[in-house]
Amino acid sequence: MKLTDNTILITGGGTGIGRGLAEQLHKLGNQVIVAGRRKEKLEETAAANPGIKWLAVDLTDAAAISDLAARVLADFPALNMLFNNAGIMRAERLVEGKLDDAEAILATNLLAPIRLTAALLPHLASQPSAAILNVSSALGFLPLAERATYCATKAAVHSYTQSLRCQLRGTSVEVLELIPPYVQTALMTGENDPRAMPLPQFIAEVMSILAQNPTPPEILVDNARRLRFAEKTGSFDTIFEAVNRPQ
Ligand SMILES: NC(=O)c1ccc[n+]([C@@H]2O[C@H](COP(=O)([O-])OP(=O)(O)OC[C@H]3O[C@@H](n4cnc5c(N)ncnc54)[C@H](OP(=O)(O)O)[C@@H]3O)[C@@H](O)[C@H]2O)c1
Repeated sequence: MKLTDNTILITGGGTGIGRGLAEQLHKLGNQVIVAGRRKEKLEETAAANPGIKWLAVDLTDAAAISDLAARVLADFPALNMLFNNAGIMRAERLVEGKLDDAEAILATNLLAPIRLTAALLPHLASQPSAAILNVSSALGFLPLAERATYCATKAAVHSYTQSLRCQLRGTSVEVLELIPPYVQTALMTGENDPRAMPLPQFIAEVMSILAQNPTPPEILVDNARRLRFAEKTGSFDTIFEAVNRPQ
């Protein structure tokens, strides 16, 4: 992936992994636009990194996604990269038979990237060099049962990304998947959890992988390999039982 002179839209770029990537890519001389719901987080990111632009959007709203795409293309016609990073995770007790959390997770983690990709892809494909980076999760490859719908959406993002990459073969659009392990962000109340990877260390490792030429289609830091390849290494059942053991 080209690392300089890009115009990059990063959803969920006001916090956590999205902000970490936005800041590093901004430092490398890219025009970065961050999008999310909380204006104060976006403003904070832009204030700390003069030149980063922001747009407020609720990605669960289909009309708001169309509007976001129109605003981005009007204001940043050089847009050539989309990072579908925004996501939510919630614990669910499936036996309760409730759907609110499941539907919100599906709308944010799966429908939104599909909708935003559809809205921006015709433009991206017209750019001489373009990329779409979808953020899945190591949990898409080995589910944490209490986060059932979250893990299902991440498995779906992986599958969708593979198909997208295949359909875009031979075009100017590179399709990448970032597969984080457990990282210290607000996503899972893991900001101070010593079991999670420190965010700066994660971002540094991701940036060094992005800089590889060619960039591997799956961006996988070392900590994510155990779950990503659990099936392949024959350790799936053992790890599944260990991570899902009742506390
Ligand atoms: N941290 C981990 O351990 C981990 C592991 C694997 C994968 N991931 C993935 O990494 C991505 C980034 O997560 P993170 O860890 O950096 O957590 P985070 O700090 O909570 O970031 C999530 C971002 O998504 C945005 N977002 C959520 N719902 C949205 C909506 N409806 N519309 C617009 N923006 C929305 C949030 O902003 P607003 O709330 O302001 O909208 C926030 O900036 C997610 O896709 C997550 O699943 C994280």
